Amino acid sequence: MGFWKKWFPGREAQAAEFAKKFRPVPANFAPDRQQLYLYRDRDVDVGELEDLCDAVGWARRPPRKVKIALQNSFLVLSVWEVRGNYKRLVGFARATSDGAFNATLWDVAIHPKFQGKGLGTYLMQETIRELRKAEISNISLFADGHVVEFYRRLGFLADPEGIKGMFWYPSP
Ligand SMILES: CC(C)(COP(=O)(O)OP(=O)(O)OC[C@H]1O[C@@H](n2cnc3c(N)ncnc32)[C@H](O)[C@@H]1OP(=O)(O)O)[C@@H](O)C(=O)NCCC(=O)NCCS
Repeated sequence: MGFWKKWFPGREAQAAEFAKKFRPVPANFAPDRQQLYLYRDRDVDVGELEDLCDAVGWARRPPRKVKIALQNSFLVLSVWEVRGNYKRLVGFARATSDGAFNATLWDVAIHPKFQGKGLGTYLMQETIRELRKAEISNISLFADGHVVEFYRRLGFLADPEGIKGMFWYPSP
């Protein structure tokens, strides 16, 4: 059953349930041989998520709203570094979806210590794989200007057939 037994002492059933949701990340994406695990569930600790967002330079958000966003996401994938009893969130991506045709990706982040080693590519490939498994074929996202190339390499197109993303914000 592995390391998670330590997180659930005396609670074998819960540890087994948890173990089912974790998958080891292939070693070639783990710099310096860290133990990395891909986790597929919405129950990510909001504090850990906001720490990761903070580490990549994003503003912190109200925890209550982040929790709602996670609960209402169609897919939440996270990557955890595990060392003995210690675990830390080092990668994250989530998708909202109508469950049939469309999905949109949000909060894609890899901790700076783990960037540039292919982990972001791996996480995106797993996200796309999960969405394709659900027969969703239209996957969109809003890329920060400096990461357009990262997404282009994954097969995303900017403005396909001239289609523009448009936004509405409340007036200040
Ligand atoms: C964008 C991000 C998720 C990429 O994750 P990563 O693990 O560093 O990406 P990878 O190592 O898989 O990189 C794949 C390729 O994209 C390139 N790339 C990654 N981030 C890039 C960036 N910010 N600018 C330009 N190219 C980038 C890499 O150089 C790499 O190219 P290579 O294969 O020729 O070396 C990560 O850098 C990150 O979390 N950035 C801060 C948060 C952010 O901007 N998120 C996206 C919001 S839209």
